[in-house]
This record gives sequence, C-alpha cells and structure tokens, in this order.
Amino acid sequence: MNLQNGFTKTDFGNDFLWGVAIAAAQNEGAHNIDGRGLSIWDTFSRRKGKIKSGHKPYHACDFYHRYKDDLLLVKGLGFNVFRFSISWSRILPEGIGKINKEGIAFYHKLIDECLALGLVPFVTLYHWDLPAALEKEGGWSSHLMIRWFGKYVTLCAEEFGSKVKNWIVLNEPFGFTSLGYMLGKHAPGKVGMRNFLPAIHNAALAQAEGGRILRKLVSNAYIGTTFSCSEIIPYTDKPADIAAAARIDILMNRLFIEPALGDGFPRDDFKFLEKLELHNKAWKFTERLTFRFDFIGIQNYFPVVVKYNPLIPVIQASEVKAKSRNVPHTAMGWEINPHSFYRLLKRFGDYNVKDIIISENGAMFKDELINGEINDERRIDYFQKYLAAVLHAKKEGVNIKGYFAWTLMDNFEWAEGYHARFGLIHVDFKTQLRTIKNSGYWFRYLLNGR
Ligand code: GAL
Repeated sequence: MNLQNGFTKTDFGNDFLWGVAIAAAQNEGAHNIDGRGLSIWDTFSRRKGKIKSGHKPYHACDFYHRYKDDLLLVKGLGFNVFRFSISWSRILPEGIGKINKEGIAFYHKLIDECLALGLVPFVTLYHWDLPAALEKEGGWSSHLMIRWFGKYVTLCAEEFGSKVKNWIVLNEPFGFTSLGYMLGKHAPGKVGMRNFLPAIHNAALAQAEGGRILRKLVSNAYIGTTFSCSEIIPYTDKPADIAAAARIDILMNRLFIEPALGDGFPRDDFKFLEKLELHNKAWKFTERLTFRFDFIGIQNYFPVVVKYNPLIPVIQASEVKAKSRNVPHTAMGWEINPHSFYRLLKRFGDYNVKDIIISENGAMFKDELINGEINDERRIDYFQKYLAAVLHAKKEGVNIKGYFAWTLMDNFEWAEGYHARFGLIHVDFKTQLRTIKNSGYWFRYLLNGR
C-alpha cells in the first residue's frame, strides 16, 4: 500500500472534520418493515429498464439492522464525523400526517449510538428518497412541496434537534431535479421542462425554508446544504464552446447557490433562465430563496468538458466524455483531475459563504476480492491526490472545515444498481459480509497512524 502521501492528518489542523457519508436509500434496506412507507426509489426500481440488472434498493446493505457494527467500522477506520440521511417515508410513511414511531425510534438509536462512539452526526434531511405518496401528488414539481417539506423538517428538528446539531438540508438539488424531473434517469423518472422548471424553483425554496426552520427550532445548529459541483471546461477556445460552457456552468454550479446567497437565480443571457425568472417573479418569492447557511457542502466527482451542440434544445451544449478525450478516468467514466478540484474549491471559496465542507468525494473502480483482500490502489491514489488538492486550497485560504469520503461501503448506486462500488468497505450483497478494502486501511493509517 502506498503510504507516501506527502501530507499528514495534522497538516489539515486539529479541528478538521474527517468523515464518511452514506444515504438512507442506498444503505438502509428494510424497505417495508416496521411501518416504513415506500419511497420513489422503491417504486421507480420496479419500472422495467430503469435500473441496471433490475436491481432494487429493498435490502441494500441492511444498515437498518447492522448499524451498530457498521458504526464500529466507521470509528475503527479513524473518522470523527458521520454523515447519514433520514428516510422521510420511514418516519412519515405517507409523507405528511401519521408519524411512524418505530421509524423515529430507529433514528434515535442510530444517533445515540453515534454519540456513544464519539462520532459526531451530520444529518441530511433529503437525499433523494421522496415518499412515494407525495410523488403521486406531484412531488418536487408541486408547489405544495414547500409545505410538505417544512412539516417534515419541523418533525426532524423537534425530535432530534437536542442531540443533532449538524444539519444538511438537501443533497445536490441540481442532481435530483435534473436526473429525476428532466432526464427521467433517476426517480421519479419524469421528463421535460414543465416538470424541471417548477422542481428547480421548489427545491430552491425548500432549501432556504428548511434552513429557516432548523435555525428557529434547533439551538446552536450548524446548518448547511450540499451542491454537486464540477469545473466546466470549454472543449476549445472557440466562442461558441466558451458560451456553451458558461450555460452548463449556470446549471451545474450556480443555480442553487446564488439564490441561497440572496442573488436570486442567475440573470445571465440564457433563455432557460428567463423562464425560471418568470416563474420566480410570478410567485414573488425571491427573498424567500435566501438563507445564510453556516456551511456549504461541496460534492465533486469530475470536471465536465463542454462543446457547443445546436441539436440539444435550449441548452445547446453537450459533454465531451473523458473516455473520448483519452484522459484518466474512473470505472464510471468520470475524469480524475485533482487540479480541477483545487480550482473548483478556490472558486467556491470566492463566494460569500461562511464555511466549506467537502461533503462527498470518491471514486468507483472495479474492485477485485482476491484471497479476502481488496487491493484498490487506484482508489488510494485518488484519495491521496484529491486530499492533497484540498490541503492546497486550504493553505491558500479557502475556509475548508472538513472532508467526507463517499462512501463507507459499497451500496445501492441509484440507476447503476449494485454494480458501481464506491465503498471503503466491500459488501457481499448475498451474505452482507463486509471486507475492509485497502483504501479503508489507508484512511485508518492516515487518521489513526496504524
Ligand atoms: C452523488 C450522490 C451520492 C452518490 C454519489 C456517487 O451525486 O449524492 O448519493 O451516489 O453521487 O455517484
């Protein structure tokens, strides 16, 4: 194992948060027991051809039953913070109304266990698993989402707020609105602008509203939300490619942070935005989009190279994939580029945000279990380079408070099913046996020195 990192844990400072992140729909399983209602991922996975090999999230890693052992692994690898999400339909099976006491009890046990082990919990309120009952009523495309989400956040804050101080309102709003309500690749599988535009607007409002509710109900709360961010690189220096890259940049990097900062949706010259702005004005909600978050969660996996493409409606841009450019990439086909990550951190550091936390970063490779060992050197190399980039940006003054690796263990990777393995721990989905990969041991060495 390559232990020559070029940095040590102490270089990041004594109060740096070192964590791993997971999400309910990807890990918990137990989809229909103890009163849990179905989520859009349970129902979406039944639709033919939506998820690779017809995989279902029903059992996932069975974290619901195995959380105690799994938390011991988190602790054993040396992490001091743990990010997980609450399954909305586990505590409110119909999304609103009747509360499921067993669901609430589960999260109390999970939180208590974290605290007992000295793992500080970071709780994500929405990591893509909308209750199926609410999707029937329009889901994120419905303006009622603000009210539904508000009630859910209120319940979580009142139940868990005395124990949990670190909150993440949304996981990647651009991710779930674009993949789920425009492209139909993720749950709930909707397509088209007529779903996408209201979903963007409602998610941006819910993000701020969730922040306000937490601020009111939870004393000493540290409140953030997360964004999927990618450096956008024009394919050539032709003006058409540069303009295409700017449009993608608005969508992927600016669409949700700028309203939160009080600037409204970006007002650049881009037809798509005119529609959004109209929608926004019609509702007279601009100031309600604003919330002063204590931290912004940056989630980065790849840069995106963009060229002008007149065939794509409205956006008129398309991605030039890493494979076709012959650059290093992960098994997802995502470009490995730590320099781009560094530049991205510098750029977000220039926004008027208080703290930055890297709330997800990681890589999928085709791991091989040989004689009980997974020697995932490429993942180790990835973390070494990406953490060096974090340190570089931090030393140059970007206020980075922590880093969460994605992810603790191989899990249900959305439309990729169980094929895409991102974990520091290998999971045999037939037996639920966990095997720590060498990347997990590498973290342990970095964090615990052994
Ligand atoms: C993120 C998402 C995670 C995980 C990761 C790897 O966008 O928040 O749940 O799936 O990507 O693909």
